[in-house]
Amino acid sequence: MQETESIWMDGKLVPWADAKVHVLAHSLHYGDGAFEGIRAYKTDQGPAVFRLTEHVDRLFYSAQALGMELPYAPAQVCTAICDTLRANKLEEGYVRPLAIHGYGVMGVNPRNSPVQLIIACWPWGAYLPVEAANIKVSRFIRIHPDSTVADAKICGHYVNSIMAILELRGTKYDEALFLDSNGNIAEGPGENFFMVKNREILTPPLGAILAGITRATVLEIASERGFAVTERPLSLAEAVTADEAFFSGTACEITPIGIINDQMLGNGKPGPVSLEIKSAYLDAVRGRTAAYRRFLTFVENRQ
Ligand SMILES: Cc1ncc(COP(=O)(O)O)c(C=O)c1O
Repeated sequence: MQETESIWMDGKLVPWADAKVHVLAHSLHYGDGAFEGIRAYKTDQGPAVFRLTEHVDRLFYSAQALGMELPYAPAQVCTAICDTLRANKLEEGYVRPLAIHGYGVMGVNPRNSPVQLIIACWPWGAYLPVEAANIKVSRFIRIHPDSTVADAKICGHYVNSIMAILELRGTKYDEALFLDSNGNIAEGPGENFFMVKNREILTPPLGAILAGITRATVLEIASERGFAVTERPLSLAEAVTADEAFFSGTACEITPIGIINDQMLGNGKPGPVSLEIKSAYLDAVRGRTAAYRRFLTFVENRQ
């Protein structure tokens, strides 16, 4: 990965190489960290962060689910994110805030472990660098919403994602797809799922999935462009016979899906609706659509 100069750690910018935590940090052992994945884009008014407040609000929601009290207000974290981007002179890239329980006492109970917050940023290109992804349903189901706060972005949840990704090692597949405990489509290891049938855009409902901020943007873009949009349980049988499908996520942006479980959707190339949503999304994040400029925080204006 391409390193930047400094990382914000507990209120201070420190050189990249010095941003360290103790090996006995609680979250390193038990997975009780909360994090975000945010992107900043180059715009005509300099770098801007897309939907910063929504990401920071979700960070607080995830931290709260872990009983973690961040010693900052959300507005301070927003400012710290912009400070970190500015300090690193990053015009476009990825931002990773991470809240952890640090080194205190050992044991599963996180009491008496100090809360630490770090913010790193770096240049990051396409997360799934394919024209249309070839995906496969995982043998693992998505984390069950009765087992954890499934819609919080908690470090330990990503063991479930990693298991699905590891299954695909050495295969032709680009990404995994999770079903839920009812056999319906849940989401990808780091993406939400959409399908298109007869120009209707469908996506699984909230509940057992991460409430993706890109997902919310896609729903808004799609409605505004006159598409019928439906949130309902989707079976795998429906998905493999869809006209089109795509993933949404801050990291993958909009990634068309060409093949699900070896069944080609249409001709296996990105479909017209997916491409229309993708292009509208990329216009929105780069500030090229007046209606969506409200989602941008211009880094220079936030000091
Ligand atoms: C499991 C999972 N689902 C969906 C998403 C997409 O969420 P967002 O659009 O907020 O990045 C992510 C990425 O953060 C994720 O990790």
